[in-house]
Amino acid sequence: MTKKRTAVLISGRGSNLAALIAACREPAFPAEIALVFSNVETAEGLRVAAAAGVPATAFSHKTFATREEFDAAIDAALSAAKIELICEAGFMRIHSDGFVRKWQGRMLNIHPSLLPAFKGIRVHQQAIDAGVRISGCTVHFIVPELDSGPIIAQAAVPVFPDDTAASLQERTLVEEHKLYRAVLKLVAEGKVVLREGRAVFL
Ligand code: GRF
Repeated sequence: MTKKRTAVLISGRGSNLAALIAACREPAFPAEIALVFSNVETAEGLRVAAAAGVPATAFSHKTFATREEFDAAIDAALSAAKIELICEAGFMRIHSDGFVRKWQGRMLNIHPSLLPAFKGIRVHQQAIDAGVRISGCTVHFIVPELDSGPIIAQAAVPVFPDDTAASLQERTLVEEHKLYRAVLKLVAEGKVVLREGRAVFL
């Protein structure tokens, strides 16, 4: 079995990265993490990559004049590592349309809510403020519009009356780690594809 060469794009902690690295270490898992990219040079996730012996590269978007130039540099790093799939996990930059078009169908994101509810940032606080009793996480294909791509899979978690953003985040992350590896497996095996704007299971 050839494993799909996968890049994980991060900006921070890297707990989803750690979960994906652990999954990919299993011999029968159909993907390998061949590159980690961070736009934050001090991201904790870069230490996760280093500890696991996964190649990582980091450069800041701030050193580029435009979004397009930053994405072109990321794309060059992805090409050099012969990347076939991208998993974004807490990557806090919006891509240029050209980059998204190029990677469409091969680029996933995880978001800590049941989309289309609670897009953007401070997601757990949004859920608590809205008073919902169930929240969760979503893995979707990335399209140009933020947090709006075709949904592949979701997992639910309860929201308790005494939850804080931190406690809800902690409960949600446990599900994120399971969901992301399950979806990466499906996509790497070609069992789910992006077709006419929807995630289609084959
Ligand atoms: C996760 O909650 C993910 O859903 C969101 O950003 C967070 C990243 O956490 N997009 P980590 O860096 O994977 O620990």
